[in-house]
Amino acid sequence: MLIRCFHIKMALVTCFNTILFLVFIFSLDVNIRGVEASHQVFPELQSVSAVNVQLVHRTGYHFQPKKHWINDPNGPMYYKGFYHLFYQYNPKGAVWGNIVWAHSISKDLINWVALEPAIFPSKPFDKYGCWSGSATVLPGGKPVIMYTGIVTPSPVNTQVQNFAVPANYSDPYLREWIKPDNNPIVRARSENSSSFRDPTTAWFDGVHWKILVGSRRKHRGIAYLYRSRNFLKWTKAKHPLHSKDRTGMWECPDFYPVAPKGMNGLDTSVTGQDIKHVLKVSLDSTRYEYYTVGEYDRDNDIYVPDNTSVDGWAGLRYDYGNFYASKTFFDPDKQRRILWGWANESDSKQDDVQKGWAGIQLIPRKLWLDPNGKQLIQWPIEEIQLLRGQNIHMGSQVLNMGEHIEVKGVTAAQADVDATFSFKSLDRAEWFDPNWAKLDALDVCDWMGSTVRGGLGPFGFLTLASEKLEEYTPVFFRVFKTKDKLKVLMCSDAKRSSTTAEGLYKPPFAGYVDVDLSDKKISLRSLIDNSVVESFGAHGRTCITSRVYPKIAIYNNAHLFVFNNGTEAITIDSLDAWSMKAPSLMNNN
Ligand code: FRU
Repeated sequence: MLIRCFHIKMALVTCFNTILFLVFIFSLDVNIRGVEASHQVFPELQSVSAVNVQLVHRTGYHFQPKKHWINDPNGPMYYKGFYHLFYQYNPKGAVWGNIVWAHSISKDLINWVALEPAIFPSKPFDKYGCWSGSATVLPGGKPVIMYTGIVTPSPVNTQVQNFAVPANYSDPYLREWIKPDNNPIVRARSENSSSFRDPTTAWFDGVHWKILVGSRRKHRGIAYLYRSRNFLKWTKAKHPLHSKDRTGMWECPDFYPVAPKGMNGLDTSVTGQDIKHVLKVSLDSTRYEYYTVGEYDRDNDIYVPDNTSVDGWAGLRYDYGNFYASKTFFDPDKQRRILWGWANESDSKQDDVQKGWAGIQLIPRKLWLDPNGKQLIQWPIEEIQLLRGQNIHMGSQVLNMGEHIEVKGVTAAQADVDATFSFKSLDRAEWFDPNWAKLDALDVCDWMGSTVRGGLGPFGFLTLASEKLEEYTPVFFRVFKTKDKLKVLMCSDAKRSSTTAEGLYKPPFAGYVDVDLSDKKISLRSLIDNSVVESFGAHGRTCITSRVYPKIAIYNNAHLFVFNNGTEAITIDSLDAWSMKAPSLMNNN
């Protein structure tokens, strides 16, 4: 009976999904015909300064300014012993608007000092906004920023690309930036000037510097390529570096080399025989990002994604949850590539105004190519361990069907938890209906959730849970089998995250995990921080971030459980959880 109901539901959902797809395609059309508004604009709210800053749901160890709205991380770089993070910031209110480049510095990517905004509207070439961009460190260690300037008022928002240089190179804080008067250095010509933004970090081929600028032509997302010998005079290449139909506007492109082996990162200009490249774009129409791994022919400027990378909105994502407008940079100090992503709020605009703040930067992640060459692997930067306090260790504990046990002794509202699960056999894995392959992982997660009894799984964590489980955000795996392989689904499901009924977006985010289960083990790590849960499945092969707003499970009333709702018993091989401290230097904007 249960199975029959499930199949009827499946048929309905398949139908629903087709409708959703059509709505998506239709909305591409609407976006493309009308004026694109990537961020909702609330003119009446954008200059309403926060009176009080609401503390509940504020994060304890994620990057947040003291108040007001933030979005994209911009121009991350390392300079003279300091990490620099710039970000889109509204100094006047808790919704998007009045955008400047706020600026913070850090020695360890954990403790941050806020400086004055580095770039703000002041010249004809950025009078109506200073939007996203990137930093490039030129030979001789000289940084230069390229950013998008808005030259006509909303709703047209004509976009040009500008540059800015430090006023004083001997200041390691790089407090003051100069925007020379020969800006803009890149103007739209045949491009659509209202969809022409977010220049990448430049790379050098020995003769030319090259950058990408995100854009679109009708439904086609485009990364335009520009070349320059001197960083001042830029010429558009005949062909874009890459484009893809039915993906809409490409915001915040990112393009960089990755080594075929090892976990080290590469400077953006490095090239070589075995080196692969990654192209990531942020899709304005879906608010998801996708990336491809491919071959870049630097002499002819041709990028071809490998046939193992799906090139389109169903492609691989850094994160299958609330993660957008991300940017990577090469850290020469620790020879690694670091990824920053922004997580928007999932509550209402009215909530944001009341809270007095909106948006967080997620914990920076080190990122490298999986030795199988097909995907990236991400892991929270090692410095996060500086914040670990009280530790709890559990080992060799069996979880039978339907059991959940509490991880006691850590501050569950603000914790880092890392576990390895094992099981005796894969025989009980449920069959994966081939029809589901056409659907988004999110739909499969939505129907089955963490409570529908499975074979091997669902098992994992119940994060930000109230004692009696009126509220919880489960992060879990379900293992399925097909004729010739296993399919591992990872979910982070916000549906029951809060008993607040109105105004919250509570999606069940999900992705598949490409992992070899022959050792019958799988790991899961979650960084839990009051209103955010960032999870890393199978050592960072699949990552999902959820924003949630529990009403009961706050501060000391938050609990953490490990659960198993599958018929196959699961063993917690080992679990470590730590209370997480706040950094001693908070970003004190
Ligand atoms: C992405 C984005 C960028 C733009 C910026 C404006 O979130 O829309 O394309 O430059 O935000 O704040």
